[in-house]
Amino acid sequence: MRIAVTHSSKKGLLAEYMQRFGGHSDQAIPDDMFAEGDSQETIDAVIQTIQRLGHKVVGIEADNRVVQRLKAEKPQIVFNIAEGLFGDFRESYIPMTCERLGIPYTGSDPLTLGICLNKSRTKEILSHYAIPNAPFRLIYPHEDIQARLEDFPFPAIVKPLSEGSSKGIFNDSVLFAPESAAEIIQKMFAKYQQPLVIEKFLDGKELTVAVWGNGDEVEVLPIVEICFDALPSGAVPIYSYEAKWIWDRPEKPLNLFVCPASLSLTAEKRVEAVVREAWQVLGIKDWCRIDVRFDGEIPNILEVNPLPGILPKHEDNSCFPKAARTAGYSYGAMLEKIIDIAVKRWGMKDAVRVPEAALADCI
Ligand SMILES: Nc1ncnc2c1ncn2[C@@H]1O[C@H](COP(=O)(O)OP(=O)(O)O)[C@@H](O)[C@H]1O
Ligand SMILES: [Mg+2]
Repeated sequence: MRIAVTHSSKKGLLAEYMQRFGGHSDQAIPDDMFAEGDSQETIDAVIQTIQRLGHKVVGIEADNRVVQRLKAEKPQIVFNIAEGLFGDFRESYIPMTCERLGIPYTGSDPLTLGICLNKSRTKEILSHYAIPNAPFRLIYPHEDIQARLEDFPFPAIVKPLSEGSSKGIFNDSVLFAPESAAEIIQKMFAKYQQPLVIEKFLDGKELTVAVWGNGDEVEVLPIVEICFDALPSGAVPIYSYEAKWIWDRPEKPLNLFVCPASLSLTAEKRVEAVVREAWQVLGIKDWCRIDVRFDGEIPNILEVNPLPGILPKHEDNSCFPKAARTAGYSYGAMLEKIIDIAVKRWGMKDAVRVPEAALADCI
């Protein structure tokens, strides 16, 4: 097959940023600004691995030349891992472009990607369907913070509304009392320039769950458990920016993950059920990774990642490939499976054959 891998490289994101703001931004670039972008190593690994599977592959940076590139390359399917940089709908850009150009693509549609990047909208939908998730409140920059914190249960955690990859989630994002919370919240408004979500802190086991398939073939892969004992002493038990990108380095990986998770059969069944429900109500397609944390006996959905990270090396500690590996899929077999799932969903083999009756109608 002819496959285009659409991606957002860290370098590409920086170029876009400079193009938009040049040297004229009066805002300092936050240290985690490009956290959602992929390294060149990951992009090369995805492209070369799909090539080795026997496909003709081209990599396309998801910048403003993407429409021309896709028109010129005419891929049969787009393998999309592009996160984008600007705006709350940045993850929808490639799926939307593919929809417009009539090119099949892997993963969820623009609506689902738009919703899942908004932690409040996601939780509102989950809550509507009575799917457990932490009680929360949205805080806007113009609001009286102390008033918004009134009656809110502490400890709590605060996060930017529309980010991923632990961007904006630091060791000090866990708030222990309303008095000290206001200062941190003010700092976050200044740094991230967007509303914040404050959630009840759930102190149970944390898991992340890779899921793939469609319809009645949705499959939950072996569950990954995050073991916070491996964090430096004094660190709060969360998968923060420090934990993900600073303390856990490929050259000195932390022993943070156990797969399959150590869960009782009942707990495992509960997790699987809640994850399947979230998948269903959010309209996920092909693949995703869902973060879960226990509140007592009840697994709660933390957030849903319809564009999961797929770093290639074991020591990168990337959770979707880790779950797939535990299920017996190499990196290549994992990528081929995602492509197969999408090809099947789009009914591609049938789609190129225009039915006789439809052709007759056109004359
Ligand atoms: N309500 C919560 N209770 C406890 N920990 C949380 C809660 N929400 C987030 N966390 C911690 O913060 C981490 C990052 O939050 P998450 O919502 O998954 O954001 P991201 O999109 O950056 O991955 C989680 O993996 C978890 O460790
Ligand atoms: Mg997460």
